[in-house]
Amino acid sequence: MPTSTFAFPPPAFPSADQMEILVSQTQIAERVAEIGRQITADYGGQSTGYPLVLIGVLKGAAIFLSDLARAIHMDNTFDFVAVSSYGRARVSSGAVKLIKDIDNPIEGRHVILVEDILDTGLTLSYLRGLMLQHKPASLKIATCLDKPSRRLVPIEADYVGFKIPNHFVIGYGMDYSEVYRNIPDIRIFPNDAGQ
Ligand code: IMP
Ligand code: MG
Repeated sequence: MPTSTFAFPPPAFPSADQMEILVSQTQIAERVAEIGRQITADYGGQSTGYPLVLIGVLKGAAIFLSDLARAIHMDNTFDFVAVSSYGRARVSSGAVKLIKDIDNPIEGRHVILVEDILDTGLTLSYLRGLMLQHKPASLKIATCLDKPSRRLVPIEADYVGFKIPNHFVIGYGMDYSEVYRNIPDIRIFPNDAGQ
């Protein structure tokens, strides 16, 4: 194994236990179970003969997707897309670019795009447009978090874990400069009063 030159986490980053819990592991688990039941009920009578397809947006949605897939009590399969994102900065450039496309066709399939956070809406608007070109039988959006006050383009998710104020959050898949994704709670930096 090559040794990383990147101090991990970088020394200037607060440790997770110095950060305030915004949504606890228990609250997340309860809400994911509820959304799973809701999706199971919504798609129960709508079989296309294929499993429901969950498309996760890498990397942030990977953990939410893995929990959600197991909370949906019907056949489902998953695929992933990757887009250019905030990268190492805390503000979006506004530009969205596809870095990794889906592996399998989704024409005629029921599809749910699974995202960690619906923020400005630029990412999901772009991805929704792109996925609709593949002619799925239906396309819905599930997001773990929604920051409605940040929206720049009009888009709403069909399934929302938690609506939150404008805090910068980490944990449960979400990162700051690739750190903190494995933290099981959703946390905010010290002194982030939100807006
Ligand atoms: P949007 O295109 O502005 O809606 O961007 C959504 C993406 O920005 C999410 O998928 C996250 O990757 C990232 N993002 C937005 N807010 C946060 C945050 O508070 N913490 C970590 N990532 C965030
Ligand atoms: Mg993301």
